[in-house]
Amino acid sequence: MTTPRPETLAKLTPVLTKRWLSPDAWQIGTYEKLDGYAALRKALKAHPDDLIQLVKDSGLRGRGGAGFPTGLKWGFIPQGDGKPHYLVVNADEGEPGTCKDLPLMTHDPHSLVEGVIIASYAIRANRAYIYIRGEAVHAARRLRNAVEEAKAKGYLGKNILGSGFDLELVVHSGAGAYICGEETALLDSLEGFRGQPRLRPPFPATHGLYASPTVVNNVGTIASVPYIVLGGADWWKSMGTEKSAGPMIYSLSGRIANPGQYECGLGITLRELIELAGGMQPGHNLRFWTPGGSSTPLLTAEHLDVPLDFEGVAAAGSILGTTATQIFSDQDCPVYATYRWLEFYHHESCGKCTPCREGNYWMVRVYRRILAGQGTHDDLDTLLDTCDNILGRSFCGLGDGATSSVTSSLKYFKQDYLDYIEGRTAPKLSDKQLVGAH
Ligand SMILES: Cc1cc2nc3c(=O)[nH]c(=O)nc-3n(C[C@H](O)[C@H](O)[C@H](O)COP(=O)(O)O)c2cc1C
Ligand code: SF4
Repeated sequence: MTTPRPETLAKLTPVLTKRWLSPDAWQIGTYEKLDGYAALRKALKAHPDDLIQLVKDSGLRGRGGAGFPTGLKWGFIPQGDGKPHYLVVNADEGEPGTCKDLPLMTHDPHSLVEGVIIASYAIRANRAYIYIRGEAVHAARRLRNAVEEAKAKGYLGKNILGSGFDLELVVHSGAGAYICGEETALLDSLEGFRGQPRLRPPFPATHGLYASPTVVNNVGTIASVPYIVLGGADWWKSMGTEKSAGPMIYSLSGRIANPGQYECGLGITLRELIELAGGMQPGHNLRFWTPGGSSTPLLTAEHLDVPLDFEGVAAAGSILGTTATQIFSDQDCPVYATYRWLEFYHHESCGKCTPCREGNYWMVRVYRRILAGQGTHDDLDTLLDTCDNILGRSFCGLGDGATSSVTSSLKYFKQDYLDYIEGRTAPKLSDKQLVGAH
């Protein structure tokens, strides 16, 4: 393991993660001692429109993957329309490799609760939901406990801190489906239906939960809000890059010495992150990695110095996504890794549209054939052709995301495919696994 140089260590900017290591950080007493609910007191004295403007000025962009400007999204909520407004926090976090929201909710649930209250006040919502994936039982318990603690202190419920603003916050556990992280499928699921994406337009800003104006934001987005209210837009923009402002939690997993969460200004590079994480594991050299979860095209050792912000990663041919950097070495096989991701997408496809439902089904079969040593050269064209029929033709982003590792691994690692097909690499799957396909 290597020790990071002081100049690299200085790139850590613990903002959202700053309380995580404090004893009992999840309890309201600790939270209040460490600036907790100070932002709420300040926000309730401001006009809601001024809060929306503040978030616009900060340059905060959604942390759920797409990077949509948060203040702009809040500004889309029609005001004075006489309809109920809703804030829905997307805490589904199902993208393989992604693990920033769960530790935040487990270690510092009050930062999310405080962010929910401020955001609801800004968009004039009197009811908010946190939709958390069903398996995250521990985090859901911590959140529910935080909601009760906040209620007891007058931060939630009727006439919050004497401001006249009322808010009810419900923590709702889903059943654990990746598609329920897609915002419109999430809304269907929250309404009690099967979680499947809705046709857009109309967008949730006007026809969201119960056909009313709704903001859907990621956990990290909403938990950023109290810091922006306290620190101001300029302070927030002092971290990150011009178009990708603020700190970001990068989740490092795979072949590195110290996997975990590293919060740094947007625009840090993978080279620096690996240094912060103590280097690669002994005996491993970087071969490929995902910049933002399994839905983002793979990058390679050539891309170690790409700035990990929305623009930098796009220019390198990938997507920043959820900043889940999964790191693979020369001892890992890109064909097998892609196959495993594809099994996931095939399993999680909701089945609503043909390109994703059928395309992933067939691609899994082609991969099994290649990995069992029975692939043909034509299979590679079939894979690319299938991706071409999924990407941009699917009903939601799940289908598009499924193609990312297929096309990028074929771009950078075609030889690995050929080695299976031409018999230079021993099969990884047996005939039995091939036959057992369903
Ligand atoms: C298949 C799929 C899964 C998604 N899963 C999540 C998720 O678990 N959490 C999340 O915040 N956004 C997820 N998203 C993105 C959401 O649709 C939406 O863009 C996001 O919640 C908006 O919040 P933000 O503006 O704060 O980023 C997913 C999108 C797709 C297509
Ligand atoms: S792309 Fe996949 S997950 Fe999305 S609607 Fe179509 S079948 Fe469902």
